[in-house]
Amino acid sequence: MFRLISIGLLFLLSCACMNPAQADPKYPGVGRSATTREIQAWNIDVRPDFKGLPKGTGTVLQGQQVWDAKCASCHGTFGELTQMSGPIVGGTTAEDSRTGRVAALSKPNTVLRSAIMKVPTLSTLWDYLYRAMPWTAPKSLSVNETYAVTAYILNLAEIVPEDFSLSDENIKTIQERMPNRNGMRRDHGLSTVKGTPDVANTDCMKDCTGKVTVHATISEDALHSHGDLSLQNRRFGSVRGLPPGKNAAKRD
Ligand code: HEC
Repeated sequence: MFRLISIGLLFLLSCACMNPAQADPKYPGVGRSATTREIQAWNIDVRPDFKGLPKGTGTVLQGQQVWDAKCASCHGTFGELTQMSGPIVGGTTAEDSRTGRVAALSKPNTVLRSAIMKVPTLSTLWDYLYRAMPWTAPKSLSVNETYAVTAYILNLAEIVPEDFSLSDENIKTIQERMPNRNGMRRDHGLSTVKGTPDVANTDCMKDCTGKVTVHATISEDALHSHGDLSLQNRRFGSVRGLPPGKNAAKRD
């Protein structure tokens, strides 16, 4: 009996210690810390080096079934241009796969740009599908369904053969075949190509000496593309929209 009670007590104690869903003593009265499972549910990003990619596998044929059931209604049987979205595949050549740069993207007469023409990193495609598709039921694909449907898209794009099975173990080798893998550039602006680059800057982020000002800027053309921003803000809070025509896109 005593043994049973002590085991029960131990169990209870260990639950209490391991339960991360407790109020944080550092911030009394302010919610509680997120549990490991809650963090896991949010922490699903897959990085370009595939850090964060869950283990799994899926074949082209399984992917075709996922596609036909859950994707084709919006993206067409072959990932072509539809009323819902731009084409998913198409517009790439064997030469692009060799060079890693989709040549058509640099030609001014290219009007249609498929997803596979643009995306340099396969991790982005995987992450996007797992996170955002199908449009009407995001985050509903299982890990293996995501591998399968990614494999199917890669097959439609003629990057992998029909009997291919994509997995966490071979995905890096497929990255090396992505037609636009060398297409990512950081030497131009985001809103306008002629603008200054807004990534890879040299601003100090840690242990900085001197005053650091953190601010966001909106370029002139982006500023005017959504009408009068000053009418679209709440009346309280620190962010003030700017009326059009005011060249004061900088705010601290
Ligand atoms: C109900 C319609 C719908 C369904 C079903 C759907 N999608 Fe989409 N999909 C969209 C829309 C709309 C976009 C564009 C979203 C945007 O631009 O923000 C999109 C975007 C995409 C893109 C990126 C295209 C690009 O050029 O950036 C991919 C890849 C994609 N979907 C794959 C899938 C896959 C795989 C499935 C099935 C698992 C699926 N979609 C199901 C509507 C849908």
